[in-house]
Amino acid sequence: MKHKLIISSLLLAASVSLSAQKSATITIEADKGTQIIPKEIYGQFAEHLGTCIYGGLWVGEDSPIPNIKGYRTDVFNALKELQIPVLRWPGGCFADEYHWMDGIGPKEQRPKMVNNNWGGTIEDNSFGTHEFLNLCEMLGCEPYISGNVGSGTVEELAKWVEYMTSEGDSPMARLRRQNGRDKAWKVKYLGVGNESWGCGGSMRPEYYADLYRRYSTYCRNYDGNQLFKVASGASDYDYNWTKVLMDRVGGRMQGLSLHYYTVTGWSGSKGSATKFSNDDYYWALGKCREIEDVLKKHIAIMDEYDPKKHIALLLDEWGTWWDEEPGTISGHLFQQNTLRDAFVASLSLDIFHKYTNRLKMANIAQIVNVLQSMILTKDDKMVLTPTYYVFKMYNVHQDATYLPLELKCDTVDVRDNRKVPLVSATASKDKNGKIHISLSNVDVDNAQEVTVNLAGVDAKKATGEILTAKHITDCNTFENPDCVKPAAFKEVKISKGVMKLKLPAKSIVTLELQ
Ligand code: AHR
Repeated sequence: MKHKLIISSLLLAASVSLSAQKSATITIEADKGTQIIPKEIYGQFAEHLGTCIYGGLWVGEDSPIPNIKGYRTDVFNALKELQIPVLRWPGGCFADEYHWMDGIGPKEQRPKMVNNNWGGTIEDNSFGTHEFLNLCEMLGCEPYISGNVGSGTVEELAKWVEYMTSEGDSPMARLRRQNGRDKAWKVKYLGVGNESWGCGGSMRPEYYADLYRRYSTYCRNYDGNQLFKVASGASDYDYNWTKVLMDRVGGRMQGLSLHYYTVTGWSGSKGSATKFSNDDYYWALGKCREIEDVLKKHIAIMDEYDPKKHIALLLDEWGTWWDEEPGTISGHLFQQNTLRDAFVASLSLDIFHKYTNRLKMANIAQIVNVLQSMILTKDDKMVLTPTYYVFKMYNVHQDATYLPLELKCDTVDVRDNRKVPLVSATASKDKNGKIHISLSNVDVDNAQEVTVNLAGVDAKKATGEILTAKHITDCNTFENPDCVKPAAFKEVKISKGVMKLKLPAKSIVTLELQ
């Protein structure tokens, strides 16, 4: 169904394709910051899906592709630079068919399995618990283990926790030592199931709530390791799931998850990742921004049961979901990543920053070679996606104090009755007192004259980086890997507490005030 794009302001009614000067005003409340943006909002997600693990993160020590102990060197170095705070693994839907004992011990003795969720690919289990937890140590990030509740047992999950975290002379610690790892790992985040309403067991929330209580009872805190247990949460608009879990599980969980994808629907085509109209582009931004309403509604339910906000909300899957790239293996969900995806990232992060008094983690799906990935690989080639660059530019906000802001700009009405502001922004103050502002101008055709009121901020100048491209459909390919990448941005003036800049059409900028 084709819907017409309507610009809300009369001034803009002519057409979005006409180049014109527009303006936006932002007022930063620099003295009103109280909330820290937890670095975990910049979390990632690795799943045994397509070439996320095999070929993406892991090639094995004998591969001709340069590697560090089996991890791809190029991918590892790019991820290290990204300062990943937390990495979720092994799924997703895969997690509820994963039996961790198949992935330990001598590789040649590890049994193979069929990855039923993702294309029936044979999984040889050569990347297992040791390979994952060692990677987290090398990257300096927290592991987030997603446990099997759908097809596993209480004993299996309890033993996995013991295997990973027990220091003592316990049976599982002994087994770990036999497999070459003496010291227990520290594992903080433990997901008790994934999408238990769907691929994780097709359960009703009442039944899952009881199962959560049972499984989590036996997931122990060993030797100083403190688990942060996360219950499998709702999909986007399923508010009843959150209500039942809050009612029946309550304080037995430290976190409750939520999944929200920028997707056109669950049946039929999801649309091409690279060939889309401006109308499709604005629709995606509207759908992505709708997460704000979804977050508010889940948070309101959580507030009813837990007004002191002891239980965290974790958006442990989010991002764009388009059709698989033509010519790739069906079920592997390999998708390209354009400037449109970059905007979905920047707009989403701007929203997440506002709700971090309840939202404590977000994990974009998936880190390499799947949905809205940071990195794409093909044989020995690697490209960094526009989304990677947004995460890199936004890293300055990790663990910084969120600064509330007021933003006035034009909006565009898009199909499905959604409204998209043409400018989005977020600001924070880091531990050294430096203020960073990220701004997105989503308008395909028009620049924005942006005025930022910085009352109470002692800043003389600002510099930063800009991410833009010729077309909104531009992406980085293996043939042209540098089509979309950040450049220096200096055209900013500050005078008497007011910053002025011209934000080019379809651009994302992060500035540091000096
Ligand atoms: O990210 C792909 C899949 O989407 C995950 O495996 C699942 O949890 C969700 O349905």
